[in-house]
Amino acid sequence: MTHPAIQLPSLIAHRGYSAAAPENTLAAVRAAHQAGATWVELDVQLLGDGTPVIWHDADVSRCSNGRGSLASMSWATAKTLDAGSWFGDRFAGEKMPSLGEMLALLNELEMGVNMEIKINKGRDPIALVERALPEMLDTLPSERLIISSFNTEALTHCRQLAGKERLALGVLYNGVPKTWRAQCEAIDAFSVHPSWSRLKRAQVEAMQKDGYQVLCYTANDPSAFHSRWAWGIAGVITDEPAAFKRFLDSH
Ligand code: G3P
Ligand code: MG
Repeated sequence: MTHPAIQLPSLIAHRGYSAAAPENTLAAVRAAHQAGATWVELDVQLLGDGTPVIWHDADVSRCSNGRGSLASMSWATAKTLDAGSWFGDRFAGEKMPSLGEMLALLNELEMGVNMEIKINKGRDPIALVERALPEMLDTLPSERLIISSFNTEALTHCRQLAGKERLALGVLYNGVPKTWRAQCEAIDAFSVHPSWSRLKRAQVEAMQKDGYQVLCYTANDPSAFHSRWAWGIAGVITDEPAAFKRFLDSH
Protein backbone atom coordinates (compact mmCIF):
# COMPACT_ATOMS: atom_id res chain seq x y z
CA MET A 1 0.00 0.00 0.00
CA THR A 2 1.12 3.59 -0.61
CA HIS A 3 2.09 5.39 2.55
CA PRO A 4 0.94 8.90 3.44
CA ALA A 5 3.13 11.70 2.02
CA ILE A 6 4.84 12.50 5.32
CA GLN A 7 7.40 15.32 5.40
CA LEU A 8 9.64 13.72 7.99
CA PRO A 9 11.32 16.14 10.38
CA SER A 10 14.90 15.64 11.58
CA LEU A 11 13.68 16.25 15.13
CA ILE A 12 10.73 14.81 17.03
CA ALA A 13 10.25 16.13 20.57
CA HIS A 14 10.03 13.14 22.92
CA ARG A 15 6.89 13.24 25.12
CA GLY A 16 6.73 16.87 23.95
CA TYR A 17 9.67 19.06 24.98
CA SER A 18 10.12 16.88 28.04
CA ALA A 19 13.36 18.53 29.18
CA ALA A 20 11.53 21.86 29.51
CA ALA A 21 7.99 20.92 30.60
CA PRO A 22 6.17 18.00 32.23
CA GLU A 23 6.17 15.11 29.77
CA ASN A 24 3.11 14.21 27.71
CA THR A 25 1.18 17.37 28.69
CA LEU A 26 -0.30 20.15 26.59
CA ALA A 27 2.42 22.43 28.05
CA ALA A 28 5.14 20.08 26.76
CA VAL A 29 3.67 20.18 23.26
CA ARG A 30 3.37 23.97 23.34
CA ALA A 31 6.99 24.18 24.52
CA ALA A 32 8.09 21.93 21.65
CA HIS A 33 6.26 24.16 19.19
CA GLN A 34 7.85 27.28 20.66
CA ALA A 35 11.28 25.65 20.36
CA GLY A 36 10.70 25.14 16.64
CA ALA A 37 9.82 21.43 16.64
CA THR A 38 7.16 20.48 14.10
CA TRP A 39 6.55 16.94 15.41
CA VAL A 40 6.20 15.40 18.87
CA GLU A 41 6.28 11.83 20.15
CA LEU A 42 3.58 11.02 22.73
CA ASP A 43 2.29 7.90 24.50
CA VAL A 44 -1.36 6.88 24.50
CA GLN A 45 -3.04 4.46 26.93
CA LEU A 46 -6.52 3.69 28.25
CA LEU A 47 -7.85 4.50 31.68
CA GLY A 48 -9.90 1.85 33.44
CA ASP A 49 -13.14 3.42 32.16
CA GLY A 50 -11.90 3.24 28.55
CA THR A 51 -10.89 6.90 28.15
CA PRO A 52 -7.75 7.24 26.01
CA VAL A 53 -5.19 9.52 27.66
CA ILE A 54 -1.67 10.75 26.97
CA TRP A 55 0.56 9.13 29.60
CA HIS A 56 3.70 7.02 29.71
CA ASP A 57 3.75 5.02 32.95
CA ALA A 58 1.42 2.27 34.15
CA ASP A 59 0.55 4.40 37.18
CA VAL A 60 0.30 8.08 37.99
CA SER A 61 2.73 8.40 40.89
CA ARG A 62 5.89 9.59 39.09
CA CYS A 63 4.26 12.39 37.09
CA SER A 64 1.35 13.61 39.21
CA ASN A 65 0.26 14.26 42.79
CA GLY A 66 -1.90 11.10 42.73
CA ARG A 67 -1.50 7.38 43.32
CA GLY A 68 -2.82 4.35 41.50
CA SER A 69 -2.76 2.57 38.19
CA LEU A 70 -4.29 3.88 34.99
CA ALA A 71 -6.11 0.55 34.69
CA SER A 72 -8.01 1.27 37.91
CA MET A 73 -8.69 4.97 37.32
CA SER A 74 -11.63 6.83 35.80
CA TRP A 75 -11.42 10.03 33.76
CA ALA A 76 -13.40 11.78 36.52
CA THR A 77 -10.49 11.08 38.90
CA ALA A 78 -7.61 11.42 36.43
CA LYS A 79 -8.64 14.90 35.33
CA THR A 80 -8.41 16.21 38.90
CA LEU A 81 -4.71 15.27 39.22
CA ASP A 82 -1.96 17.87 39.14
CA ALA A 83 0.41 16.56 36.47
CA GLY A 84 2.67 19.62 36.47
CA SER A 85 3.95 20.44 39.97
CA TRP A 86 6.29 17.43 40.08
CA PHE A 87 8.24 19.08 37.26
CA GLY A 88 8.15 22.65 38.50
CA ASP A 89 5.97 25.11 40.36
CA ARG A 90 5.13 27.08 37.26
CA PHE A 91 3.43 24.00 35.80
CA ALA A 92 1.13 23.55 38.82
CA GLY A 93 -2.33 22.53 37.68
CA GLU A 94 -1.20 21.07 34.35
CA LYS A 95 -3.45 18.07 33.63
CA MET A 96 -3.19 14.60 32.20
CA PRO A 97 -4.55 15.24 28.69
CA SER A 98 -7.23 13.08 27.14
CA LEU A 99 -6.39 11.93 23.62
CA GLY A 100 -9.10 14.26 22.32
CA GLU A 101 -7.66 17.31 24.08
CA MET A 102 -4.21 16.53 22.75
CA LEU A 103 -5.40 15.98 19.17
CA ALA A 104 -7.20 19.33 19.27
CA LEU A 105 -3.97 21.09 20.31
CA LEU A 106 -1.94 19.29 17.64
CA ASN A 107 -4.41 20.49 15.02
CA GLU A 108 -4.40 24.02 16.40
CA LEU A 109 -0.58 24.10 16.17
CA GLU A 110 -0.57 22.11 12.90
CA MET A 111 1.97 19.72 14.39
CA GLY A 112 2.68 16.13 13.45
CA VAL A 113 2.64 13.36 16.01
CA ASN A 114 4.37 10.05 16.42
CA MET A 115 1.82 8.46 18.72
CA GLU A 116 3.21 5.48 20.58
CA ILE A 117 0.64 2.84 21.44
CA LYS A 118 1.97 2.19 24.94
CA ILE A 119 1.15 -1.30 26.19
CA ASN A 120 2.25 -1.57 29.78
CA LYS A 121 2.29 -4.97 31.54
CA GLY A 122 -1.10 -6.64 31.65
CA ARG A 123 -2.87 -4.10 29.40
CA ASP A 124 -4.89 -5.09 26.35
CA PRO A 125 -3.44 -3.94 23.01
CA ILE A 126 -6.65 -4.61 21.08
CA ALA A 127 -8.85 -2.52 23.39
CA LEU A 128 -6.47 0.43 23.15
CA VAL A 129 -6.21 0.30 19.36
CA GLU A 130 -9.99 -0.10 18.94
CA ARG A 131 -10.63 2.95 21.08
CA ALA A 132 -7.77 5.27 20.11
CA LEU A 133 -7.01 4.61 16.45
CA PRO A 134 -10.38 5.67 14.94
CA GLU A 135 -10.23 8.91 16.94
CA MET A 136 -6.76 9.67 15.59
CA LEU A 137 -7.66 8.76 12.00
CA ASP A 138 -10.80 10.92 12.19
CA THR A 139 -9.00 13.92 13.68
CA LEU A 140 -5.55 14.14 12.10
CA PRO A 141 -4.55 14.13 8.43
CA SER A 142 -2.56 10.98 7.65
CA GLU A 143 0.42 13.19 6.68
CA ARG A 144 0.75 14.30 10.30
CA LEU A 145 0.47 10.91 12.01
CA ILE A 146 2.85 8.02 12.63
CA ILE A 147 1.67 5.27 14.97
CA SER A 148 4.43 3.27 16.63
CA SER A 149 4.61 0.51 19.20
CA PHE A 150 6.87 -2.12 20.74
CA ASN A 151 3.78 -4.35 20.70
CA THR A 152 3.33 -6.40 17.52
CA GLU A 153 -0.29 -7.25 18.26
CA ALA A 154 -1.16 -3.56 18.53
CA LEU A 155 0.54 -2.72 15.24
CA THR A 156 -1.08 -5.64 13.44
CA HIS A 157 -4.48 -4.56 14.69
CA CYS A 158 -3.83 -0.95 13.61
CA ARG A 159 -3.13 -2.12 10.07
CA GLN A 160 -6.27 -4.31 10.03
CA LEU A 161 -8.49 -1.58 11.43
CA ALA A 162 -7.15 1.10 9.07
CA GLY A 163 -8.17 -1.09 6.12
CA LYS A 164 -7.78 0.90 2.93
CA GLU A 165 -7.00 4.15 4.76
CA ARG A 166 -3.43 5.34 4.50
CA LEU A 167 -1.61 4.97 7.81
CA ALA A 168 2.09 5.20 8.63
CA LEU A 169 3.13 2.52 11.13
CA GLY A 170 6.49 2.37 12.89
CA VAL A 171 8.05 -0.57 14.73
CA LEU A 172 9.85 0.26 17.98
CA TYR A 173 12.90 -1.75 18.99
CA ASN A 174 15.10 -1.63 22.01
CA GLY A 175 17.60 -4.02 20.44
CA VAL A 176 16.89 -4.74 16.78
CA PRO A 177 16.04 -8.47 16.40
CA LYS A 178 17.07 -10.59 13.42
CA THR A 179 13.37 -10.79 12.51
CA TRP A 180 12.96 -7.02 12.00
CA ARG A 181 12.41 -7.29 8.25
CA ALA A 182 9.63 -9.88 8.51
CA GLN A 183 7.93 -7.85 11.23
CA CYS A 184 8.05 -4.68 9.15
CA GLU A 185 6.77 -6.45 6.05
CA ALA A 186 3.91 -8.06 7.95
CA ILE A 187 2.44 -4.69 8.93
CA ASP A 188 3.60 -2.77 5.85
CA ALA A 189 5.64 -0.47 8.08
CA PHE A 190 6.57 3.04 7.10
CA SER A 191 9.37 3.40 9.63
CA VAL A 192 11.62 1.59 12.10
CA HIS A 193 12.24 3.22 15.49
CA PRO A 194 15.33 1.70 17.12
CA SER A 195 17.07 2.82 20.28
CA TRP A 196 20.09 4.74 18.99
CA SER A 197 22.64 3.56 21.56
CA ARG A 198 23.10 0.00 20.32
CA LEU A 199 22.28 0.64 16.67
CA LYS A 200 24.78 -0.41 14.00
CA ARG A 201 25.43 1.36 10.73
CA ALA A 202 24.78 -1.84 8.72
CA GLN A 203 21.33 -2.15 10.31
CA VAL A 204 20.37 1.40 9.35
CA GLU A 205 21.63 0.86 5.81
CA ALA A 206 19.64 -2.37 5.45
CA MET A 207 16.46 -0.70 6.73
CA GLN A 208 16.96 2.22 4.36
CA LYS A 209 17.65 -0.09 1.42
CA ASP A 210 14.34 -1.84 2.07
CA GLY A 211 12.54 1.50 1.98
CA TYR A 212 11.97 2.11 5.69
CA GLN A 213 12.54 5.47 7.34
CA VAL A 214 14.72 5.18 10.46
CA LEU A 215 13.72 7.30 13.46
CA CYS A 216 16.00 6.81 16.48
CA TYR A 217 15.05 7.34 20.12
CA THR A 218 16.01 8.88 22.59
CA ALA A 219 19.13 10.91 21.80
CA ASN A 220 19.75 13.98 23.94
CA ASP A 221 23.35 14.90 23.15
CA PRO A 222 23.59 16.28 19.61
CA SER A 223 27.38 16.07 19.41
CA ALA A 224 27.42 12.41 20.54
CA PHE A 225 24.77 11.61 17.94
CA HIS A 226 26.24 13.67 15.11
CA SER A 227 28.25 10.98 13.28
CA ARG A 228 25.09 8.84 12.95
CA TRP A 229 23.36 11.20 10.53
CA ALA A 230 25.68 9.98 7.77
CA TRP A 231 24.25 6.46 8.25
CA GLY A 232 20.99 7.58 6.68
CA ILE A 233 18.92 8.18 9.77
CA ALA A 234 15.82 10.22 8.91
CA GLY A 235 15.16 11.72 12.33
CA VAL A 236 15.83 11.66 16.01
CA ILE A 237 13.37 11.53 18.90
CA THR A 238 14.77 13.79 21.61
CA ASP A 239 13.97 15.34 24.98
CA GLU A 240 16.13 18.30 23.87
CA PRO A 241 14.73 19.58 20.57
CA ALA A 242 16.13 23.12 21.06
CA ALA A 243 19.68 21.87 21.65
CA PHE A 244 19.45 19.53 18.63
CA LYS A 245 18.05 22.31 16.47
CA ARG A 246 20.85 24.71 17.47
CA PHE A 247 23.45 22.07 16.78
CA LEU A 248 22.00 21.07 13.40
CA ASP A 249 21.56 24.69 12.33
CA SER A 250 25.25 25.33 12.98
CA HIS A 251 26.68 22.15 11.35
O1 G3P B 1 8.90 6.25 20.88
C1 G3P B 1 10.17 6.30 21.40
C2 G3P B 1 10.20 6.15 22.88
O2 G3P B 1 9.22 6.97 23.45
C3 G3P B 1 10.01 4.75 23.35
O3 G3P B 1 10.24 4.58 24.71
O4 G3P B 1 9.67 4.45 27.08
O5 G3P B 1 10.15 6.66 26.07
O6 G3P B 1 8.03 5.47 25.51
P1 G3P B 1 9.49 5.32 25.89
MG1 MG C 1 7.15 6.75 24.00
